[in-house]
Amino acid sequence: MSFWQEDIKIGNIYVPRFIGGPLDGITDAPFRQLVRGFSTRELLYTEMRHVRSILTPMGGHLALKFEQMERPLSFQVSASSDDCIEAACEKIVAAGVDIIDLNVGCPAKNVISSCCGSALMAHPDQLEKILKKFRSCLDIPFTVKIRAGFKEKNALDIAKLVQDCGADAIAIHPRLQTQKFAGLPDYEIAAQVKKALQIPVIFSGNVVNFKTAQLTYDRTGVDGFLIGRGIWAKPWKLLEMAENAAGREYHVSQAMLLQVALKHLQLMIDHYGPKGLYCFRKHLPFYIKGHPSASAMRSKLVVSTSQEEIVQGLIEFLG
Ligand SMILES: Cc1cc2nc3c(=O)[nH]c(=O)nc-3n(C[C@H](O)[C@H](O)[C@H](O)COP(=O)(O)O)c2cc1C
Repeated sequence: MSFWQEDIKIGNIYVPRFIGGPLDGITDAPFRQLVRGFSTRELLYTEMRHVRSILTPMGGHLALKFEQMERPLSFQVSASSDDCIEAACEKIVAAGVDIIDLNVGCPAKNVISSCCGSALMAHPDQLEKILKKFRSCLDIPFTVKIRAGFKEKNALDIAKLVQDCGADAIAIHPRLQTQKFAGLPDYEIAAQVKKALQIPVIFSGNVVNFKTAQLTYDRTGVDGFLIGRGIWAKPWKLLEMAENAAGREYHVSQAMLLQVALKHLQLMIDHYGPKGLYCFRKHLPFYIKGHPSASAMRSKLVVSTSQEEIVQGLIEFLG
């Protein structure tokens, strides 16, 4: 069996090396269900939610609303202190997820202003308290997603701390908070983290196909690959990568693209109710991208308030 066909072991769970990463506003339950139409065993992440929001009736209800078919599922949380962690973990574990992941990488202003996400990389003592709290109240696997650093690169020290506090795997998106999602990822720092740690190291950043996964592996030797933007509006991406890794080609026909877009719209409405129509608008441009009259169609469909009109438009356009 080649490297690419082997699973990685996170705690007691075995999953393929290609993983569906967390994208807030994108990788929600409908999208994950769409991915499951192609890939049944791959690990998928939820969007990030603050531990406190899990304890509110509305926030908790929505965030924990998922189907069993979405598993194996890693539920991603953020936290700035050890408050609420125990109660939130209890609720999340009871909902039946497979892994809890702590976000120590988000660069967004509103997140770092409350010392969550990547800001924690600049506060290792606080991070240590939080990590220990999670580990002490979780029997299921616990993982952490970090950056290269906050303003300065300290991923190696933070990664060791994460491992020492008992995490089962670590994901690294090797850019600083200041770089957000742009610029080349720092492959060297990811390679150093991989070399220093015994737990699986998963790489996040610019892996969009099997070729980029191979390049990333050659530069870092990491164990797994988190696909972020590369999976957006391409729920077949993990299957495509697995097929390519096995030496097979994978193509998506126009008919398949139409089927996927229509199913996505329906899943959004099933999950969110009528609001799902509006939520689907952000995905629509990606499905019609590249078509000669995409611009005209996008202008028409993204303001539509009728499911029927959007369905007809997609059929006309992609059919
Ligand atoms: C729109 C958007 C939303 C994101 N939301 C999350 C999130 O909720 N949690 C997280 O850990 N990372 C989040 N990320 C970061 C991605 O998971 C990933 O680390 C980053 O985009 C680099 O990988 P990529 O080049 O494969 O996209 C987000 C990125 C984008 C572009």
